[in-house]
Amino acid sequence: VPTGRCVVAVDGPSGSGKSTVSRRLAAGLGARYLDTGAMYRAITWAVLRSGVDPADAESVAKVAGEVDLRIGTDPAGYGVTVDGHGVDADIRGPEVTGAVSAVAAVPAVRALLVGRQRDMITTAGRIVVEGRDIGSVVAPDADLKVYLTASEAARAARRSAEDAVDVAATAADLARRDRLDSTRKADPLQQSTDAVVLDTTALGIDEVVTRLRELLTERGVA
Ligand code: DC
Repeated sequence: VPTGRCVVAVDGPSGSGKSTVSRRLAAGLGARYLDTGAMYRAITWAVLRSGVDPADAESVAKVAGEVDLRIGTDPAGYGVTVDGHGVDADIRGPEVTGAVSAVAAVPAVRALLVGRQRDMITTAGRIVVEGRDIGSVVAPDADLKVYLTASEAARAARRSAEDAVDVAATAADLARRDRLDSTRKADPLQQSTDAVVLDTTALGIDEVVTRLRELLTERGVA
């Protein structure tokens, strides 16, 4: 069993293949896996459940500070709970997806979750972390930073297949979220200058994972 420290940061917009690539890479490395988007989604679930307006930053921050959010790091399957409620299915639903960008834009929410994420990375040692600000903010000292992209059409097609919803509606929603996630003031989605950029429009998932393993081997980290 490999034991050395190995932190991989995987950033990119939704539908870029981040989750599948990150989980497979983690499993192959014998590493943990952290889905930071699921943490923002879980806080959003709590905000909606408490009846707070996602646009009310102060109240959103208060909810975030009070809830007991737990998330597993097993790449083969992790659970997310909020105050003891299993929310794995609900955080993928349209209500949460529609409100998550507003919640993720609140600086106090980001500060709280980034702190939790850094603690989890330190504890795990070997971990693949996916999100929007991992290479830039959460783990600037990662052993490998990856930025995945794909054409808008490919991303919308993947997301609509995953969520079993209409491609046109998905494309519109993706464009809206990308715009919000990229233009917000607090830690927007951005490509670190030292990230390896891979376009998954034409590359298969396995090819991307193989390429990342090669890069880690070249760098002597895994
Ligand atoms: O990856 P995802 O679609 O599950 O992410 C959900 C939302 O959370 C997305 O709209 C952007 C936000 N997010 C973020 O701001 N920072 C992260 N590290 C991960 C996700």
